[in-house]
Amino acid sequence: MIRIAAFGDCHVGVDSCGRLAPHLEPVNEHADVLLIAGDLTKCGTKDEARILADEVQNVTIPIYAVLGNHDHHADEVDGVTRALGDGGIHVLDGSAEVVEIDGASLGIAGTKGFGGGFAGASGSEFGEPEMKAFMAHTKRIACRLERALASLSTDHRVALLHYAPIDATLVGERLEIYPFLGSYLLAEAIDVAGADLVLHGHAHGGTEHGSTPGGVPVRNVAQPVIGAAYKVYTLGP
Ligand SMILES: [Fe+2]
Ligand SMILES: [Fe+2]
Repeated sequence: MIRIAAFGDCHVGVDSCGRLAPHLEPVNEHADVLLIAGDLTKCGTKDEARILADEVQNVTIPIYAVLGNHDHHADEVDGVTRALGDGGIHVLDGSAEVVEIDGASLGIAGTKGFGGGFAGASGSEFGEPEMKAFMAHTKRIACRLERALASLSTDHRVALLHYAPIDATLVGERLEIYPFLGSYLLAEAIDVAGADLVLHGHAHGGTEHGSTPGGVPVRNVAQPVIGAAYKVYTLGP
């Protein structure tokens, strides 16, 4: 059995020193790998990323993350990624990694994702260049996610996102902002390539449980949703 600890949206700021570390300490006992579903920082600065890197120094299991929209805000993505990497947090961006756990292999395909909306209420690549660019960005990210998942021939596969692939895990958020919380294109990519579990964050007021139209379990692991520092999910017998 593979135990996956996950959370998103910890939003570490420069005033967050020492706040997360004590809550993460038990994770080494509870799980085999830790996945972070984006919005690691408040404003996306290198300084904030360094603070999170310090907070996870006592976590000894492998850590993988995707960035969220907040982690892009200061336009310091390379510096943020480097600072997290220096702290042992591997950032996935349309890419996949494999972890061996007790003789089983776990593949993790990670991407930030983006918005656009859901079936019957989605944007399209039509009209102004800005609208075309918005939807083209989502489409490109969904294609990279599908490729990353398809590249994995592991025993288990997890898709790690920041934005939501379905609307069921958004329930509780205002309907008007659904198009800014995720896109059905992400779920389509997951169902085409296949996965055993999807983790996302971003929707702080959403719902934990859902599944893609193809039946892949989806979990919204934003900290305000799970009401804890992390949640553990299991795969395999
Ligand atoms: Fe967030
Ligand atoms: Fe977010």
